[in-house]
Amino acid sequence: MPGRPARNAARVDTPLERYFDANLEGPGIWKWRHYFDAYHRHLGKLCAKPVSIVEIGIYSGGSLGMWRDYFGSDCTIYGVDIEPVCKAYESDGIHVLIGDQADPAFWERFRREVPPVDVVIDDGGHEAHQQVATLEALIGHIKPGGVYACEDIHGENNPFGHYIAGLSQNLHAHRGETTPFQRTVESVHLYPYLTVLEIAECPRTELVAPQHGTQWQPIPMPGAPTLA
Ligand SMILES: C[S@@+](CC[C@H](N)C(=O)[O-])C[C@H]1O[C@@H](n2cnc3c(N)ncnc32)[C@H](O)[C@@H]1O
Repeated sequence: MPGRPARNAARVDTPLERYFDANLEGPGIWKWRHYFDAYHRHLGKLCAKPVSIVEIGIYSGGSLGMWRDYFGSDCTIYGVDIEPVCKAYESDGIHVLIGDQADPAFWERFRREVPPVDVVIDDGGHEAHQQVATLEALIGHIKPGGVYACEDIHGENNPFGHYIAGLSQNLHAHRGETTPFQRTVESVHLYPYLTVLEIAECPRTELVAPQHGTQWQPIPMPGAPTLA
């Protein structure tokens, strides 16, 4: 609007962003700044709990330290990267697995070695086939109440963006009984460049739309109570 200064959406003060801003030296972290609000919204409930998280894409190792600071010393972190040099970032409570996130055989080994996790963050190669392979390999390996996030979905015609749009349609399936997707996935959230799926705490076994009240308009409505 003319005369009004441009401003960003309201920012939330999050421990993640504070850690990021204080991390001016040492292992590098590279995140879009607006991710921190979204992460805190979805992951805040898991702070200071003995959660396990997997981040695909280690690069310079700083984000592994950020997650450790955020979730606390009881958390277990699994970093995954295709570059063997990233093994250097292994430390107390931080395991590093080297492999290609696009390779289903790598994830098969991962699932054998690593028990189901609470959080998956895909910040790896950012190519759609890698992101799809990762989501499909890990969605069933996330614990109830857990969270899956995929970063850096850039561009309106991003193929992974289209894949997520199609996948999300499964939430609207209307078949009388809930589908496996509706049972497992609580919700899908879109942010600029970031998608977050929340996994249901307990399986959603039914979707119901009860009618409460005794007075109804005689407007034709499929499934509405019949008036005497
Ligand atoms: C954007 S960087 C990760 C940044 C880091 N998570 C952070 O927040 O600072 C991407 C990383 O993904 C890794 N990578 C690229 N392709 C991969 C693949 N196919 N499988 C696993 N890791 C991959 C790269 O080696 C690189 O270290």
